Amino acid sequence: MGNLQKTLFCTLFTVGLLTCTKLIILPQFPIPLSLKIFSLIFSLAAIVGFSRTTSTSTNLPPGPRPVPIFGNWLQVGNDLHHRLLAAMSETYGPVFLLKLGSKNLVVVSNPDLANQVLHTQGVEFGSRPRNVVFDIFTGNGQDMVFTVYGDHWRKMRRIMTLPFFTNKVVHQYSGMWEKEIELVVDDLRSNEVVREEGIVVRRRLQLMLYNIMYRMMFDAKFESESDPLFVEATMFNSERSRLAQSFDYNYGDFIPMLRPFLKGYLVKCRDLQSRRLAFFNNYYVQKRRKIMAENGEKHKMSCAMDHIIDAETKGEISSENVLYIVENINVAAIETTLWSMEWAIAELANHPAIQRNIRDEIAAVLGGETAVTESNLHRLPYLQATINETLRLHSPIPLLVPHMNLEQATLGGYTIPRESKVVVNAWWLSNNPAWWKRPEDFRPERFLEEEGGTEAAVAGGKVDFRFLPFGMGRRSCPGIILALPILGLVIARLVLSFEIRPPPGLAEVDVSEKGGQFSLHIAKHSALVFKPIKA
Ligand code: HEM
Repeated sequence: MGNLQKTLFCTLFTVGLLTCTKLIILPQFPIPLSLKIFSLIFSLAAIVGFSRTTSTSTNLPPGPRPVPIFGNWLQVGNDLHHRLLAAMSETYGPVFLLKLGSKNLVVVSNPDLANQVLHTQGVEFGSRPRNVVFDIFTGNGQDMVFTVYGDHWRKMRRIMTLPFFTNKVVHQYSGMWEKEIELVVDDLRSNEVVREEGIVVRRRLQLMLYNIMYRMMFDAKFESESDPLFVEATMFNSERSRLAQSFDYNYGDFIPMLRPFLKGYLVKCRDLQSRRLAFFNNYYVQKRRKIMAENGEKHKMSCAMDHIIDAETKGEISSENVLYIVENINVAAIETTLWSMEWAIAELANHPAIQRNIRDEIAAVLGGETAVTESNLHRLPYLQATINETLRLHSPIPLLVPHMNLEQATLGGYTIPRESKVVVNAWWLSNNPAWWKRPEDFRPERFLEEEGGTEAAVAGGKVDFRFLPFGMGRRSCPGIILALPILGLVIARLVLSFEIRPPPGLAEVDVSEKGGQFSLHIAKHSALVFKPIKA
């Protein structure tokens, strides 16, 4: 496109945009002269920007040709889910670039380049992009999950590791997890409706996971699904997820000129976040502060929050950082594990033979006497294969949490402009038929047969970059150490206690998926029958 054409295009576009804005959004207001002048200046700026992009773009990764201002946004749409990006990688290759308004999105779709982003060049690509909405929910990066790679992230990750992510923590709490899971089994056993008509088990499992995480975090517990604090906590967190994961605010994120139209959305986010942080603070953090102050020197650290408050007292982090750690655990730990559980249970309902195999393995390895506990999970490879297969086929975070390069970088021989959002299509890595036999089948056996050596990426061991449900490297999920045993225990105990079936009249439950900015969960929370095996 010549410069004259670009000028013409941009001017026409801006005039068109303003006219539409006037007609659709603000019919009662005339366009002021100042806005017209601004639009002209903006057009010229857009040309300069666009010319720069195209003139330095010779070594950029391939991708569809962008148009000024919108980039590729109008071509690719809002919902850039893992399947669409996988299909685009077939056209543009293992690394491609989308311009989304003023932002760059780089998509990585093969194991070698995933290794580069997550491991070999883990420092270069170790930051996180934020947008106007995530700035609000993270207090501009005062948290750990969405902060840039650097001293603050290192400190936060170190402070969170001791009370959450060590083997000692797993051993300290696994008995509690087992008790919480047993309460779910008891509730299902005592509910007649569950045996014949079936129930949606999600809410009960959600209560269990909140209790597991809140007991670890605050030594606190919710009484029941109708406990007002549980109702409030889940409402705050689901509203936060809805607002952050929505595609509705993309226009203001991609095209800064349109940001004023996001005002109402951002006010809603700010309001929710301040009420939500106040809830965590008033009901949980302050309580721990009080207990610690009352005990003084004699206080024994009895939950994660005590360690976090201790780090604050030593001046390592601020009181805001303390609250954002609570916020991060609420979003990163609970729903991800819950989604995985829901997928696993739905697939098991559709595959009774896999349930039988799990029971047979437990009987053969542990005999009738011993219960499945965290300490013997490692002796149950078929059970673990079932968890792996769930995470492979239904990765809860299919594009991982987006990465970002603070400075210009090189990837696969291409130049990646600074501050690009870089996503690794982990779902495609583990569902590409070029690398996996019949990937669409739910078949745990694959992890014992042709994929015998494949492990979810764990630091230190040999990593298979085709299977990254928890990411890999510096920004990988530290919660893997909790999530895998909790999932194993829940599935083992449910399958040992019940035959899980679709509700009467249905041969299979629907396992279709629903995604957000970077989450993926089951679209329909179906009712399931839990037929007790033992009294
Ligand atoms: C099945 C359950 C889970 C899955 C599938 C999962 C997956 C992930 C993924 C894909 C990432 C991003 C990796 C990357 O960007 O390279 C991540 C990050 C993270 N996860 Fe998890 N996660 C799960 C459970 C948990 C739990 C239980 C916790 C905490 C108790 C947790 C805490 C975190 C944190 C703090 C991060 C951010 C790490 C950083 O940025 O340095 N996750 N998780």
